[in-house]
Amino acid sequence: MPANGSRGLSRRSMVRAALAIGGSSALAACMDAERAPDDATTDAPTYPRGVDDPSTLPDGQHRWDDYLVRGAHGTTTQSQHQLLLGLRYEGDVPPTAADRDHVESALRTLERAFQWGSGSDTSGSVNNGLLFMLGYAPRYLDRVGIDVDGLQPPESVLEALDEDPSLAADFDALLLLDSDYASILLAAEEAMFGERAELNGVAVDARLSESFSVVERRTGISGEGRPAMELENESVPAEAPLSMGFRAGFDNSLPDEDRVTFTSGPFAGGTTLCVSRIRTDLEAWYDQPHDQRRREMYCPAHDAEDVGETGDRLGAHSGVTESNVENLAELADEHGIVGHAQKVASARDDEFRPRILRRSEGVATDVVGGSGFNFSSVQTDIAEFVAVRKAMQVDEYDVDVPDDRHGIVDYLGTLSRSTYLVPPRERRALPSER
Ligand code: HEM
Repeated sequence: MPANGSRGLSRRSMVRAALAIGGSSALAACMDAERAPDDATTDAPTYPRGVDDPSTLPDGQHRWDDYLVRGAHGTTTQSQHQLLLGLRYEGDVPPTAADRDHVESALRTLERAFQWGSGSDTSGSVNNGLLFMLGYAPRYLDRVGIDVDGLQPPESVLEALDEDPSLAADFDALLLLDSDYASILLAAEEAMFGERAELNGVAVDARLSESFSVVERRTGISGEGRPAMELENESVPAEAPLSMGFRAGFDNSLPDEDRVTFTSGPFAGGTTLCVSRIRTDLEAWYDQPHDQRRREMYCPAHDAEDVGETGDRLGAHSGVTESNVENLAELADEHGIVGHAQKVASARDDEFRPRILRRSEGVATDVVGGSGFNFSSVQTDIAEFVAVRKAMQVDEYDVDVPDDRHGIVDYLGTLSRSTYLVPPRERRALPSER
């Protein structure tokens, strides 16, 4: 019997399933399920409108920090739903000015229809708007004559990590969308790639489908209690925000947006995006006692009392210190465990600041046969992602700790990787040098 006590899908699961399926009937079902109870008499839920003038929005498409919901400790929290659309470019090379105008109009339609995230009032307690970024893969950029310092193709990332280069996604571009409402994501998708004529009351005069087709859809969820409710895995703690049972994303472990933004060059104000799809072996993970999982996730030196069941007691700081990193070998000797957060913190810069900004993360809801995770991060150079990801590898350390106690890497498997240029907002429409 599901936790909600009914044999049918819970309201929440309906929403998750609808987003994973996609299409106009899924949107109708989703709107129904997400309608506020006091909204029962209206035809469709409405959300705050966005802006006509994109110059009132941040210059960088990836600048979400001020528009994300802040949790009880003041840290930014991930939106509850994510939608990643892998795109193929179908237009001319080089793109024409008319193509570019059309793409820009389509993106402005999204901004006009929905507010940017939780809105400019930073006390926003819900992302009842939309956050999105359109990134261009080296496959597209090569064709239009753009070479970006710091953007390596996904095959190079895979090779650098001793992984199979055929796991590189073959997208030309990626549209990444986040919201606390799945119906906002579905409606945006239907407006950009379907037939929808209006979006939250705004007429749809231009669609991305003029230039792109969708070759792959990925969906995900995050948020306190969601994974336990929506995954068929009774081991996931009831309050956990992610499937592996612990809170992620603390003030000290997320760099400022400026740190991950290009300061010069033709795409100043933009960044690079790395997107991974990961398989998570939750059975093996939850086969271990909580105490062991906690130490493997954070750091063996972390005290149970300070962390709590899901990291809920940690407040705004992950508790990972320079001394945890410097004494990694001694702590490994003492506890027989190395922590994930401890290891990745060893890849911080000279000032002990993290180098990659984890952006949209979610437990995959469209993976058939097993559980998955959508990971994405922005950074000024994809090599920074590679350095951080390398710090997860067991053979980077000279410690005598079995693989299954060496952070979380032994419980993860790579399914796909891809890399993108995320131009600043003003150059986001089909950039080209030719
Ligand atoms: C299912 C997969 C993963 C889960 C559940 C997970 C979870 C966590 C948790 C709980 C933390 C500690 C809290 C925090 O500081 O945010 C953390 C830190 C971190 N993780 Fe992961 N993680 C996963 C995969 C990855 C991957 C693939 C990378 C890519 C390199 C990564 C990079 C980082 C970084 C950079 C930090 C912060 C380290 C610092 O403080 O400097 N994680 N992760």
